[in-house]
Amino acid sequence: MLCVPGNPGTAAEAKCRNLPISPLDAASVVAAAHAEGVSLVVIGPEAPLVAGVSDALRRSGLAVFGPNAAAARLEGSKAFAKEFMQRHGIPTAAYGRFTELAPALAFLAQQSLPIVVKADGLAAGKGVVIAETQAAAEEALQRFLAWGPVVIEEFLYGEEGSFIAIIADGQVLPLAGSQDHKRLGDGDQGPNTGGMGAYSPTPILDAAMSERVRREVMQPMARALQAEGLPYRGFLYAGLMITDSGPKVLEFNCRLGDPETQPLLMRLESDLFAVLQAAALGNPLPPALHWKPELALCVVLAAPGYPDAPQLGQAIRGLETTLDTATAKVFHAGTRTQDGGLVTAGGRVLGVTVLAPSISAAQAQAYALADKIRWPGMQLRHDIGWRARPRT
Ligand code: AMP
Ligand code: GLY
Repeated sequence: MLCVPGNPGTAAEAKCRNLPISPLDAASVVAAAHAEGVSLVVIGPEAPLVAGVSDALRRSGLAVFGPNAAAARLEGSKAFAKEFMQRHGIPTAAYGRFTELAPALAFLAQQSLPIVVKADGLAAGKGVVIAETQAAAEEALQRFLAWGPVVIEEFLYGEEGSFIAIIADGQVLPLAGSQDHKRLGDGDQGPNTGGMGAYSPTPILDAAMSERVRREVMQPMARALQAEGLPYRGFLYAGLMITDSGPKVLEFNCRLGDPETQPLLMRLESDLFAVLQAAALGNPLPPALHWKPELALCVVLAAPGYPDAPQLGQAIRGLETTLDTATAKVFHAGTRTQDGGLVTAGGRVLGVTVLAPSISAAQAQAYALADKIRWPGMQLRHDIGWRARPRT
């Protein structure tokens, strides 16, 4: 396995080698894939999908898992995703789309509070403001309109869940449900982040609700993509609000979620490569994926100042005292080597992930492991998985 560009975590894996090229440089990625004779390219993050790296790889004859740029607009543009859902009757919050301040303010004046204001493009979790006051909504509107189109959206009440499926030419193969924690602080306080921790399975996506999401969101999406001439072979991630009237889509990603992926991969028993290759080639997918019944939980360790202004370059201590096993693994996100040691190199630095028989055991094990790792100002939430704990 080759990782572009990879990180010190992937470099340490037994069958993995990093290639120091930019994943956004389509020509270099195509050339490297042919030179190395790879049989499958899986595109992980959103930026190369939105930039059309899949298109370039496919044109060159390679098997690719990850949608073309035209379909990746589902993640790259909130307005595109909302219009697409509206055209196909996919459940989502009511909204308006604006490019000018005056009509946006007029629309805003007629909405009730709180109200949600979203920047159209990729913003790594920073393009969403939940405004409790008219003034806060207007401030976000003005700020986001300076970058491009804005979506103003009805605030939905409920509990969030993450539902990811493999979509391949109209076929839908769901992954297990999971739940992210978007806010920086304990008790869901503080600013939105890319995600501070996740676990799977989650009570909010039990068998009945998962089946509903498959039927009401994923199957109609797979059909709609085909109907609109947007062939799709890749992961489709639905960020959902489970409301009193059922699941509603908050956002789509055209990839796996971070940090949802870490617990999902700890639980996956099926051969991921075989499934991704079948999807990339347009072959039939298996009827279901197999999962370990245990609970997997990931706690993100973040840099001081994250999400607004993460402070990087700090030495990471204690990681060498942790040991990857079948039930515990520290995944790297933003790390890099410097003078033979590891330093922080991104807002979210590490994902401490464990597999355990229960939520309380998973929390105890994950936090014991996280306790071994430190750098000045390291941030983490102390309550990952709280919604899965028995309510007393
Ligand atoms: P998004 O990037 O669109 O998923 O938004 C980021 C986060 O903002 C979501 O995970 C929710 O916590 C929150 N959010 C977004 N849209 C809404 C909405 N319409 N109602 C309530 N919360 C929302
Ligand atoms: N955890 C949400 C995301 O990956 O965007």
